[in-house]
Amino acid sequence: MHFEETAIQTELRELTRKFAQKELAPLIEEDERNETFRPEIIRKLGELGLTGIPTPEEFGGAGLGYQEYICVIEEIAAVNLGYAISVAVTGLPQLILSKFGTAEQKAKYIPGLASGTAIGGFALSEASSGSDAGSLRTTAKREGDHYLVNGTKLWITQGGFSETLILMARTGGPGPKGVSAFILEKGMEGFTTGKREKKMGIHTSHTMELVLNNVKIPVKNRIGEEGEGFKVAMSALDGGRITIGASALGISRSALAVAKNHALERQQFGKPLMEFQGISFMLADMATALEASRLLVWQAAWLRDEGKPFSKQASMAKLFASDSAMKITTDAVQVLGGSGYTQDFPAERYMREAKVLQIVEGANQVQRTVIARALSKEN
Ligand code: CAA
Repeated sequence: MHFEETAIQTELRELTRKFAQKELAPLIEEDERNETFRPEIIRKLGELGLTGIPTPEEFGGAGLGYQEYICVIEEIAAVNLGYAISVAVTGLPQLILSKFGTAEQKAKYIPGLASGTAIGGFALSEASSGSDAGSLRTTAKREGDHYLVNGTKLWITQGGFSETLILMARTGGPGPKGVSAFILEKGMEGFTTGKREKKMGIHTSHTMELVLNNVKIPVKNRIGEEGEGFKVAMSALDGGRITIGASALGISRSALAVAKNHALERQQFGKPLMEFQGISFMLADMATALEASRLLVWQAAWLRDEGKPFSKQASMAKLFASDSAMKITTDAVQVLGGSGYTQDFPAERYMREAKVLQIVEGANQVQRTVIARALSKEN
């Protein structure tokens, strides 16, 4: 494993940073306030080749690895988490279809997602099945050449904007083995969006309820065999959790920068805050937690790129980087004091953004479960 970025990784990082600073940063404060999402931003990221980084070139992706992917996600998250999550969620169907899709499914759905002309979605959670994903209740009953799907999905990122969603529904008995995965398309009859959540943060990312009322999903839209859906979802989340870790790096980095600048500039008792050990030690701890998070995220990405098992390390990266982001952003608010608690500085937004990373793509308690289960299987 190496920790020095390759030329292509640095190039991608610079390209994304430039775009995020120029096109995204000027919009963010107002769009967060007004809860505005702009699909054209995803399209523009797609034009730069940034929405399908780990997707094979034959389907319109960049054909690169996760080590490149995390550079892009970190840079977007450093400016706004909502768009980083939108890119990551658009990546999930690409990941799933590249690995489990038929030739026809790959050709039909991946190019739009990889080019950013279509936004992706991932519909697993329901009101009564969040962490216990295998207990989901949405049903898919086979009727000839289609399935009749009924149920309600909850907390679906950009569910109203997604053109192509991966839907997990029950085709068999109770538990994970009764779950199958399907491709759900925007506009299918009986598929509507319900309420949009009013959230603490990431307002540029709309979190939707999806209502499925006798939706006819063709059998050819099933991914893999009946009963394989839970494994499809879990293996996609292994990869997704690395992108959540990368998002945490972006937020932590921005929070640390704001806090450091403030500590260097703000004078109290006749000297900069940085000269008070109480503050400088906080910044030292923040920087150390960020570096440790970075190493875990890179390790998970590297393992995945090398084709080695990475599920445990992805959970560790997600867990540690998001818990660290929560601590780093909370401390950034503290370093800024009264200003940190106001919307004149972005520190309070970073703190609200960090919180969701401890919850999405598996609450951090679930990450600990995955890690503990892996530990007990090891010699
Ligand atoms: N890869 C492949 N297969 C896997 C797997 C993985 N990572 N994890 C589990 N499986 C398989 C198991 O091997 C098992 O199969 P066998 O019986 O054949 O061995 C099967 O799946 C069931 O596994 P478990 O018995 O471990 O299942 P469980 O019911 O105990 O659940 C869990 C395990 C880890 C808690 C899981 O339910 C989980 O991850 N929950 C959290 C769900 C989650 O992350 N939701 C996020 C929603 S999506 C989101 O947030 C995206 C967004 O919009 C931003």
